[in-house]
Amino acid sequence: MKILAIETSCDDTSIAILNDNIVLSTVTYSQYEEHKITKGVVPETASRVHSKKIFVLINEALEQSNIKMNEIEAIVVTSGPGLLPTLQVGVTVAKMLSYLLNVPLYPVNHLKGHLYSPFIDQKKEKIPNKFIFLLISGGHTIIGIYDKKKINILGNTLDDAIGEAYDKVARLLNFELPGGPIIDSIYHSITLTKKSDEMTLSAPITNLAKYNFSYSGLKSWVIQNKKKHSYEEIVFAFQNAAIGQLLNKVKKAVDEYKIYDLVIGGGVSANKYLRSEIKKIDDIKNIYFPKLIYTTDNAAMIGYAFYVEKSLIEKEDLLMDVLLTKGIK
Ligand code: KG4
Ligand code: ZN
Repeated sequence: MKILAIETSCDDTSIAILNDNIVLSTVTYSQYEEHKITKGVVPETASRVHSKKIFVLINEALEQSNIKMNEIEAIVVTSGPGLLPTLQVGVTVAKMLSYLLNVPLYPVNHLKGHLYSPFIDQKKEKIPNKFIFLLISGGHTIIGIYDKKKINILGNTLDDAIGEAYDKVARLLNFELPGGPIIDSIYHSITLTKKSDEMTLSAPITNLAKYNFSYSGLKSWVIQNKKKHSYEEIVFAFQNAAIGQLLNKVKKAVDEYKIYDLVIGGGVSANKYLRSEIKKIDDIKNIYFPKLIYTTDNAAMIGYAFYVEKSLIEKEDLLMDVLLTKGIK
């Protein structure tokens, strides 16, 4: 089945064409420039950029995939969670295409996109039946258990999401946004160039009961300490504590639930330090990360999540609305 997938939940306008599990093309416009002045995403600005770019991207995606518009058999769109005005752009364009092409319209939960992103292009039979998952992005920090398409959330962030913490700390240190990749690459060069006895500063690793996360304390720690230490020391201590919190919860879940497959998705899953440290956790057998191009928001993961969950997703009609829950459904 040839589908056209649309993702506009935040600040990436993305279109993908898939034939079942195979991605034929993905084109994404990331709105970094537009949000530079405000040092953060303003939903109204983001929705204006989505509506400006979306048709150009649809044309590009069709061209790159060698598929004609009239060959498309279904439209798949992110219905939420995300920013209301930006989701509305994608959903409205999706309805219009479904109406004009006379093909069915299907909603996909954004977090399901991140959840299945490590398996993009693979047949769904390759996805393990049961695994622990970690969804870490600018909007979410969720740990849970996946069991034959059923989701059991173990913990969530009580305040800032981990990616949001990276972005806020980057702003405090006067770095450009998004902060995650910059902080991660500074951290990486510190580990290559500095001796371990030069980097002794540490920030406390938040340890909430059970499986919840919190990142606002770590941000406050940066505010209190940034004038007393070099930016490199702050970056080093921040990343150790931010990723340390994730590692501790994953260890706890592996110990408690005895599940040894782990799936990680979302923008922060690109983090180099996380990728190397998580492998050191005892007992974990398989770790599934998305390819770097599929870590941040993209429409390929939305189209692929539809391929995996097709039997569970109900067709929408032209009354379709955006989904205003924060969760994974
Ligand atoms: O998944 P995503 O594109 O958007 C949401 O759904 O929120 O994630 C974007 C987030 C940003 O906060 C960005 O700073 C973070 O992912 N990020 C990283 C890295 N690359 C992107 N955080 C830490 N390390 C990275 N290498
Ligand atoms: Zn996302």
